This record gives sequence, C-alpha cells and structure tokens, in this order.
Amino acid sequence: MNNFTFYSPTKFVFGQGEEKNAGSYVKQFGGSRVLIHYGGGSAVRSGLLDRVKASLDKEAISYVELGGVKPNPRSGLVYEGIELCKKEKVDFILAVGGGSVIDSAKAIGIGTLYDGDFWDFYSDKAVVERTLPIGTVLTIAAAGSEGSDGSVITLEEGMFKRACGSDLIRPKFSILNPELTETLPAYQTACGAVDIMAHVFERYFTNTKDVEITDRLCEAVLLTMTSEVPKVIANPEDYQARANIMWAGMIAHNDICGAGREQDWASHSLEHELSALYDCAHGAGLAVICPAWQEYVMDHNVARFAQIAVRVWGCQMDFAHPQITAKAGINSLREFWKSIGMPGNFADLDAREEDIPKLLDTLQIDGSTLGNFVKLNRDDCEAIYRIAC
Ligand code: NZQ
Ligand code: ZN
Repeated sequence: MNNFTFYSPTKFVFGQGEEKNAGSYVKQFGGSRVLIHYGGGSAVRSGLLDRVKASLDKEAISYVELGGVKPNPRSGLVYEGIELCKKEKVDFILAVGGGSVIDSAKAIGIGTLYDGDFWDFYSDKAVVERTLPIGTVLTIAAAGSEGSDGSVITLEEGMFKRACGSDLIRPKFSILNPELTETLPAYQTACGAVDIMAHVFERYFTNTKDVEITDRLCEAVLLTMTSEVPKVIANPEDYQARANIMWAGMIAHNDICGAGREQDWASHSLEHELSALYDCAHGAGLAVICPAWQEYVMDHNVARFAQIAVRVWGCQMDFAHPQITAKAGINSLREFWKSIGMPGNFADLDAREEDIPKLLDTLQIDGSTLGNFVKLNRDDCEAIYRIAC
C-alpha cells in the first residue's frame, strides 16, 4: 500500500425529508446570501425546489436563483453564475440536482473569487486557492460529486470537456434523500449505476500491491450495485434499494476506495470525449468504453481480472487458464449493463466509427499517455475506441 492522505470533510445528511433542513445547514456553514443552482426542471416539477426555498425562508436566509444547468454542464451558464454571484454578493451556493448541477456550482464558486477566467482551473493554468462554500441537495446517485474533489465542465468554444480537482471544492454539506431519486427515468438510474461502478473500476485496476482493504471495499460497492440496481429498475419506488445505491455512489467516489493505491482514469478520459461530441449521458458513454478498455488491457494483469471475475461476478476460477476466467468476468459486466438497458457499442450510442480521429484529436493525447494501469498512447486509445464500435 502507498502512503496517502485521505480528506473527506463533507457533512453528509442522509434520509427521508432531510432537504427540509437545507436552510439550517447553510446557516451552520455561514451562508447568508445564497445562490440556488438547479437543472432543467426536474427539481421544480417535483416540488423539491419549493421545499428547499421554504427551508431558507425559515432561517431568514435570502437567495437568488439560477436554473437551466444541462447534463454535461456548459461554460456559458458558469460565466452567467459568476456574474450573478458577484452582482448579488452571494456568499454560499446551494446546488439542487445531480452531478451536472453540482459541478456547475463548484465552477461558479471558484470563478467568483478569481480575477481571471474560471477555465484556467480546467486547463491546468491555475490552481484553486479559494472558493465560495457549496452545499448540495442530491437528486441522482451517479457522479459522486456530492463528496468528490472534482468538477467537470464543457467549454462551449471547441466543446472541450475537462476536469478540475481540488480538496477546496468538496461540498461543506450534502443532503442525500434517496426518495428524491424515485422520479428518475430508468435510463438515468442505469446511467448513474454505470458511473458508480466505473468509479470503482478506475481504482480497482491498479499496479499497487497489497491493497486488500481497498480491494474489498471496491468489491462491496460493486456487489451492492449488482444486487440493488435490478431492484430499482423493476420497482423505482424501492426506497431501501435506492438508499443503498445512493450511499454506494458516494463511497465509490469520495476516494475511500482509492486510498493508498495508484488509480487509472483512462476510461473516464476516453468517455469524456464521447459525451462532449455526442452529448450522451456520461454513464452511457462509460458503458461502451469500460468493457472495451478492460478487454484491451486485460493481459497486463490477468490475475487481477480473474480476481474480480470470481469475487464480484461469481465466475468459476480456471487455474489452468486464468484468461478464460478474466474474460468471463468482462462478459458478465457487459451482460449486466445490457440487462439494465445500457448501450453496448458505438452504434447503440449513435456514435460513429468515422469520428474516432476527431475523438483522438480532442483527447490531446499526442506526445503523452493516458491512464496508469497501462499507459496508453494514441494508438492504444484508437484501438480501444475501435473495440467499442
Ligand atoms: O436537469 P434536470 O431537469 O434536473 O434533469 C436531470 C438530467 O436530465 C435528470 N435528473 C436528475 N435528478 C432527477 C432527474 N430527473 C428526474 N428526477 C430526478 N430526481 O437526470 C439528468 C442527468 O443529470 P446529471 O446531473 O447530468 O447526471 P449525473 O449526476 O450523472 O452527472 C453527470 C455529470 O457529472 C460529471 C459527468 O461528466 C457529467 O458531466 N462527472 C462528475 C464527476 C465529479 N464531479 O466528481 C465525476 C464523474 O466521473 C463525472 O465525470
Ligand atoms: Zn464518472
């Protein structure tokens, strides 16, 4: 196991009705003038936004609103939010929605207290030194942004999708009420499930030795997903299954599963180009990329792939031919994601093989490599995209 620092300062408030206490948590973390940031309307339609506003009113906290965050959130609304926060002297941002809303709120938070262009933080030109504090009311179990140090934004000029990472942007508090996820369409629930599982894979496939504890944590998250996700696809109002998935989503990405081990993240980079070009859901893109990546790199450490096949997918270990076991695990993953309605290849995603050079160009891989488990060059990335076709 490697040396590590694990920092997860967010206060998590979990359970039914907790959004009604949002105002008191904003107050607890010093907010007095709030920007409520939300998405395309699901939080309005469900009445959630009204409940959140009532909780702020109860604490006599004033607020302004900015809705309209799109999935794969764009830079344009971030610039708008920054202007609004400056003009209205906002001192706290409350994100009500999924990963896209939370990531947009994080970008607005760092951009408001920065003299330059917020995109500097997403293009490695600046390091985050301060931010407005953020709180979240989560409505979908997926990206893990409610507990993560990351934010992913698409720059409209050029449609570059890039991430910014800093412990400073971890939310002060996150309210996780599983009931709020019951209104999700099955497709979005499944996309979220894929993302949660992908966050585990990015950590599981490592070159670091002797990481039994984090291997087992990763496997626990994956086993929970394989047992609970089919339940919510069959019955969207299964509260207990929703609850287990929602907490799994947080654990998958606040980095407790990644402590002390090298992580990969190539699949995420390869996917971000798909969701930037086709505006597909991040989870749908990952459903196409992850199995292709796994197939391509499997021979680098067949034993690790056989381990997950046995421990998570219940495959029989073939000691004479561990490749067969490893491959069976990857096939089980494909089957599982297919069974919950996820795409299996480029065609299912309405992506085109002839766009691969374009994906590789925006990936900006020339002269560098992607990932750690296996360091991928441009040809490797191309081969993975072709397997995904
Ligand atoms: O906009 P509204 O109307 O709210 O609709 C959303 C959106 O269309 C809908 N939705 C959310 N909660 C709902 C609901 N519909 C009905 N009932 C509810 N309770 O679901 C759609 C997707 O929402 P979105 O926020 O885009 O989903 P997700 O949480 O999957 O976030 C995806 C974004 O997060 C990024 C992805 O790249 C993508 O841009 N990621 C962020 C990470 C991070 N910050 O740490 C890590 C991830 O790997 C990921 O890259
Ligand atoms: Zn993800």
